[in-house]
Amino acid sequence: MHIQILGSAAGGGFPQWNCNCRNCSGIRSGRLRAQPRTQSSIALSDDGVHWVLCNASPDIRAQIENFPALQPARRLRDTAINGIILLDSQIDHTTGLLTLREGCPHQVWCTEMVHQDLTTGFPLFNMLEHWNGGLQWNTIGLDGAPFVIPASPSLRFTAIALRSSAPPYSPHRGNPHPGDNIGLFVEDLRSGGKLFYAPGLGQVDDALLAWMRRADCLLVDGTLWRDDEMRVCEVGDKLGSEMGHLCQSGPGGMIEVLDGLDVPRKVLIHINNTNPILDIESPERGILHAHGIEVAWDGMSIEL
Ligand code: MLT
Ligand code: MN
Ligand code: ZN
Repeated sequence: MHIQILGSAAGGGFPQWNCNCRNCSGIRSGRLRAQPRTQSSIALSDDGVHWVLCNASPDIRAQIENFPALQPARRLRDTAINGIILLDSQIDHTTGLLTLREGCPHQVWCTEMVHQDLTTGFPLFNMLEHWNGGLQWNTIGLDGAPFVIPASPSLRFTAIALRSSAPPYSPHRGNPHPGDNIGLFVEDLRSGGKLFYAPGLGQVDDALLAWMRRADCLLVDGTLWRDDEMRVCEVGDKLGSEMGHLCQSGPGGMIEVLDGLDVPRKVLIHINNTNPILDIESPERGILHAHGIEVAWDGMSIEL
């Protein structure tokens, strides 16, 4: 299985257009040793030719330009994106569908809850009907039954419902439902490689840990170093836990969770621009390194 990190930042990207926090101002001025990052999205392939896009970020256009395998190479108008999976209905994971309108119809896999949000609060499915058939919805069930995307027949996907919340625009914000947010367990039936991907992960429980333990690589929520980071950086009031993101530091944090799992590769993705781990010289980055935890970057590829 080929895993391509198209974007590794959380909503807003890095630097965020309107932000002057230490990280955002530091990367602009060149003071900070860090790489810019686009908003989180990955592409998966079993053959290196046909790709499944996991989440469609507002930065998808630049992400395609930076990854030739996704570019048109066969016909006058063409794409190597043969299926799109949405893990939630957040703005940073779905807005790219608008950019992809010229290539409609697209095959999209998402849960009933995500489809509800994208036909009501943010009606992308309705709007895009006006572009050559729009988005063809394939339902992701939550019964643990695996599904396959026809263009990538060796990849077997299983959705795992995560405890989190629907986006601010959702008609059921504040009233969480299973399927608002999923993690994906992806197995390559030929190589045997197994990935667990969850860019938004608020809480772990035993059932989820059992899935994570089976993986060869964990690609998980790296949004915040500390739960009150937005407050400490004076850029907002929300706690990570309120937004459905488990922070890295402290008791029960992501570092502790990952320490308890004997998995060959542990990689953080969906990094918020306030997170000190973006600075490769930060003590926090050193702590991750000491725990064997990597930080995803745009252009990173992983083979399983
Ligand atoms: C999140 O991951 O919590 C959201 O993407 C936040 C946002 O919409 O900016
Ligand atoms: Mn996000
Ligand atoms: Zn910032």
